[in-house]
Order: sequence, then structure tokens, then C-alpha cells
Amino acid sequence: MCGIVGYVGKDNAKNVVVDGLKRLEYRGYDSAGLALIVNGEIKVFKKVGKIREFEIELNRLNVYSNVGIGHTRWATHGKPTFDNAHPHLSCDGKIALVHNGIIENYAQLKEEFFKKGHKFKSQTDTEVVVHLIEEELRSSRDFFEAFLRAVNRLKGSFALCAITTHEPDRLFCARKDSPLVVGLGEDESFVASDVPAFLSYTNRAVFLDDGEVAVVGRDGAVFYDFSGTEVKKEEVRIPWSLAQAEKGGYKHFMIKEIYEQPRAVSDTISGNMAWFKGDVPLEGIDPTSFERIQIVACGTSFHAGLIAKFFFENFSQILTEVDYASEYRYRNPVVNGKTLVIAITQSGETADTLAAMRLARKKGAKLLAVCNVIGSTATREADTVIYTYAGPEISVASTKAFTTQLTALYMLSLWLGRENGVLKEEEVNARFSQLMEVPSKIEYFLGREKKEGNVKNIALEFYRSKDALYLGRHVNYPIALEGALKLKEISYIHAEGYPSGEMKHGPIALIDESVPVIFIATKGSVYEKVVSNMEEVKARKGKIIALLNPSSPEVERISDFKIEVPEVDEFLSPIVNVVPLQLFAYYIADFLGYDVDQPRNLAKSVTVE
Ligand code: F6R
Repeated sequence: MCGIVGYVGKDNAKNVVVDGLKRLEYRGYDSAGLALIVNGEIKVFKKVGKIREFEIELNRLNVYSNVGIGHTRWATHGKPTFDNAHPHLSCDGKIALVHNGIIENYAQLKEEFFKKGHKFKSQTDTEVVVHLIEEELRSSRDFFEAFLRAVNRLKGSFALCAITTHEPDRLFCARKDSPLVVGLGEDESFVASDVPAFLSYTNRAVFLDDGEVAVVGRDGAVFYDFSGTEVKKEEVRIPWSLAQAEKGGYKHFMIKEIYEQPRAVSDTISGNMAWFKGDVPLEGIDPTSFERIQIVACGTSFHAGLIAKFFFENFSQILTEVDYASEYRYRNPVVNGKTLVIAITQSGETADTLAAMRLARKKGAKLLAVCNVIGSTATREADTVIYTYAGPEISVASTKAFTTQLTALYMLSLWLGRENGVLKEEEVNARFSQLMEVPSKIEYFLGREKKEGNVKNIALEFYRSKDALYLGRHVNYPIALEGALKLKEISYIHAEGYPSGEMKHGPIALIDESVPVIFIATKGSVYEKVVSNMEEVKARKGKIIALLNPSSPEVERISDFKIEVPEVDEFLSPIVNVVPLQLFAYYIADFLGYDVDQPRNLAKSVTVE
């Protein structure tokens, strides 16, 4: 996730764009850049690091321009370096472009232009787009036509904003699956990934829809579809304050990030498609060479590891162990050259996970990191990295990082299974198609929840509880653990997750009418078993909140409160089932008036032991 800002108007674009970039910092940053048209030439300025440092540097420069584009980068392809920072320039220096999203066919395009003599300076997928426009311009009547033709050749997700010396008082923008909004002021216009970038100048906005292009001048904007036909767009007045706008109108980052999950899961699928399909190798990994997998992680990432064990053993037939990194590092694990150690870490900076990786390395394992932050320590120390494309996670309580970790690990297990001959191509394809449906299933659930507020109402019923018990089995046992962790970390209510079959060996003693018992009772191989466990709780007067699929009369009959989630294949159900549990914890913490995004005693990155 990156931030885009564009400006054309009466002020110094340098100041307006940098001001906008600062307001988009919440979208993540590792580098920033700016392009201005000064005396008919494009000037580009970039810096690795925080925007404030970039601003100090720019303040020393005496440049003035009424047109500019800027970018705050959160790396997805290529490390956070000067060359990889946006804007990117065409070979002739006459076009500059910023981009947010993932260009899926960048490798093919790059090869095509490389053969035509184009020189590339960066490792990004974005740079190829500016070369593409430059190529299209050779056979187009004008810049708009070239831009449109280029956009039509792109696959993947993108929000683009370009400036050119061919038309120096215009911004050229396009959107597909990545947000972009135009701000309309008095004799000035703005383009941004999000409204906070220009909200201190104007509250008049036009949101681009997927498949739309905008040509923006100081006197307003004209909108087109990808075929070049003009479209009429509604202008909206943004009613939010700046602080509200950063959170997209949501009250907290956590709820915003919960709602971002359909996009995050979908980006993680497309971002990992190249190695999954076999178009590029998963560097350093010989899938046939492993006798065992060891997963090391902490907290929520550890829970993703517990579920991944089911994936690896089921689809790849590789013995898999899962360890808390903080335990693994102090025992003497059996590791050799035939061990694949997978470190799962959102931040890539968790001290215990890094220590576990270093121990495994010393013992001769191959190291793979599943990580959300490009350039983080884990990604630098691993032999191979699989990225999750969740975008920056600001809320301390992890949500979208978890569902994207599961997505990436699921893909890895299918890939391993296919490569080592356990799975036939047809089964891989069938399971992959099921995965592709997951984003829309989550979206459907969240859309209904937004309208009906079912989980919110149940949270209202239970927010004064002192304890809660989460029960599930098989792949949903770790979801019980994750549900309980979410509740305790932000609402400070004591909660336990347990495999429901274990309940009668102890925890059943806790049950009485005051304890909510949350059952993950969606369909799958252990459905009937879970129903029996529910009967045991019911017999002891426990209050049952059930997560269930449509048409589950057995569960409906026993439960006191129901949360219906769309049905997906059992192995994919954790990705969908965790979402209501995240919401449940969120609403309870919010009803209790706690600081949801920054719970007491917790830090986003635990960089000390
Ligand atoms: C819980 C949470 C933590 C992290 C854990 C590992 O909501 O966020 O439990 O999952 O600290 O962090 P990473 O994944 O960055 O290594």
C-alpha cells in the first residue's frame, strides 16, 4: 500500500504535495518522492526514510512549480532504495509516474521493452508502466491516447498518476482495484489515494471507480472509461474531519483493517501468482528436498502456523512442527539440511522469531520467511521470502496480516504438493479456484454485518462478561485460540481458546450461565463432533454463541446466539471464520471504551526478548 498525491493549481506544488504525503503516512512509508515540471522539464526528488526528513531536504531547495506528483512508498516489489522510490521517469525524461498496486504482467512487459533498448533503473513493477506509455506515445495522436492504450495493456491492480512535459498543466490518472480520488478546489485540483491528502484545501471530491481514467487540470477534471468514452461522475462533499478521514471514516484503524481483508487477501493471491503458477522459481527452494517443516512464530502469526500445519501435512505430505519462536530458540531442535524452517512474521522484526531463524540457520536448515514488510530483518536473513500484501497494519491487534498469512501459506502448501507429486494439477487448480472465492465471501459477510450489525449486537450483550471460552476443532481449533487472543489483548477480558474435544478433560468445570462460549461450528469433517461438544455445554447451562454456515439446523437448535458465515471448503474456513471473531473483540473493546488501536502494555513490533 502506498500513497499518491498529485496537484495542479495556483500554489507551489512542492509544498502541497509534500503536505498531502504527510497525511498519507499512515498508509506506510519506507521512501518518498516528488516530480515537478520546472521550466518545461521534469525534476525528480527522492529519499529513503521518513517523509519528514524528505521535507527538510526539500525545504532547502528553491524550486517552484504549479504541477507535481508525489508518492510515499511501502515496498511491494523491490527493496526500499532510492532507485525503487517513485516517481519513475521515461527514458527521454518527459513522463513521470507514480503507482499504487501490483502490476502482474510487469515481467513480460519489461522483457519486451528491454529488447527495444529501454533501460530500467529500478526493480519495481511500476517503472515498466512509464516505459509502456512512452512506447505507446510513438504511435498515438496525443498523450491521452497513449496513456489510455497503456492502461489497457496492464494486468493487476493499479492507481496511477502521471505528468508529462507534452501537456504540462494536466495530471493523467487511472484506477483499477486501487483507490484514487480527485479533489476539486478553486482554481486548483488534487489527485490522491485518499481524501486526507487534500482535505485541508477542499472537501469536494470525485471518487474514481474501477476501470476509469481522469484527466485533471486546475479548472476541474474529465472522466473516461478504459475505452475512452467520457463518463459523468458525481461530486461528493466529504463530511469528515482530517483525523476521521485517515481512518477512511472508521473509528479505529482496527475496524478499518478488518474491512480491508477482502482486498488484502486478493492482493496476496495476485502478488504470489508468479511463483505459484511456476512462471518464476521460488528461489532457493527445492520442493522435493524436505523431510520436515518447522514453523516458528509468535502470537497471531503462531496461530497462522498452527493452521498451516494442517495445510502442509494434508496437501504436501510433509511432517510439520509448529513452535513458539521464544521456545524454539531455547531448546535443541532436530534440524538438518532437509529441514525447511518457515518463519511467519508480519513485521519481520520480532526478536524471538529472528533468534529462532538464526538458530535454525546455524543447524543447517533452509529458511523461508512469510512476511508483510519488505526489507525487514527477517526478509534479509531468509533464503526465500513469500510476501503477504496486507499493506501496513497500524492497529496493534493483528487482523489482515493473519488472513493474508493463511492465504500465502495455503498457496505454498498447494505448490509444494504439486511440485513433490502429492497433488495432481486438477486438484491444485480446484483448490486454488476455491481460494479465489474467499475475498468475495469475506466481503459478503462484512457487507451484511455493516447493514445488520449482528456481531455488534451480540457484543453488546456480552461486553460486561468476566471470562469467555472459545472452542473449535481441526483447522478451527487455532481460530479458537486467535479469537481468544483478540478478545484478551484489546478488551482485557480473560478468554481461553481450547480444542472442543478437550473440554471434558478440564475446562468444562468453568462453564455456567455467566460464561459466553463461542463455538466455531461451521461445516466440515468434525461438524458432528462439534455439535456433540455443544450439547455438553448446553447441558451445563452455558450461553452458546455459534459461528455457523447456512442450513445448519443442528447448530441452530442448540445455540443461543448465531453468527452466520458463508460456507467455504473446510481448509479455507479459518480465513473466513476469524473475521467475526475479530469484530466481536473489536466491538467489546469499543463498548468498554478502551484504546482499541493501542492496547495497554503492547507494542506493534516486539523487537526485544
Ligand atoms: C496479536 C499480535 C501479536 C503478533 C506477534 C508477532 O494481535 O499482533 O501477537 O502477532 O507479536 O508479530 P510478528 O508477526 O510481527 O512477528
